[in-house]
Amino acid sequence: MAQSMPQQVADYTSHNLEDTERLAAFLASRAFPGMMITLDGDLGAGKTHFSKAFARHLDVPGLVNSPTFTIIKEYEGRMPFYHMDVYRITEDEAAELGLDEYFFGQGATLVEWSSRIEDLLPEQRLSLQLTVNEDDSRTIRCTGYGEPYADWCADLKQNGVNDNS
Ligand SMILES: Nc1ncnc2c1ncn2[C@@H]1O[C@H](COP(=O)(O)OP(=O)(O)O)[C@@H](O)[C@H]1O
Ligand SMILES: [Mg+2]
Repeated sequence: MAQSMPQQVADYTSHNLEDTERLAAFLASRAFPGMMITLDGDLGAGKTHFSKAFARHLDVPGLVNSPTFTIIKEYEGRMPFYHMDVYRITEDEAAELGLDEYFFGQGATLVEWSSRIEDLLPEQRLSLQLTVNEDDSRTIRCTGYGEPYADWCADLKQNGVNDNS
């Protein structure tokens, strides 16, 4: 990873489904073609719940389901939306899928279980690491690698999800 690439970390606490949806809305309002968000964390941590809310805020019509068995699902909102779940494939299999076409394409891409294909991911991205706490709240650690993702995390850290700047 390039030494000069800016990095920023923000920890977001989600106490309920609405909090997770607010984070998704904050990020979807900043979406741009070619953007990438990775989602990692245990089964049931809330990766798919976040993805569904993100899709709604990208104006994707209809229901977005977990693509565990299909690996990749493509939707059309105010920009293309690519939802991936790479839990069931190996890095070699993923390499065969030609993911760069999505990662560097005209849509917004979300990847659940991205750590399984770490070496195939673009350097610039927003990583969301979800942890379930004892009280059932979620800690969502947001790490922005490169611009604009590092700026988003700085905003989030300073102003929370209600910042509209
Ligand atoms: N703060 C929260 N954010 C997201 N999901 C939550 C939260 N609290 C409880 N949940 C529950 O946790 C589950 C998350 O499921 P899901 O999003 O499918 O997880 P994953 O895709 O990470 O396996 C849902 O049943 C949801 O209702
Ligand atoms: Mg899921």
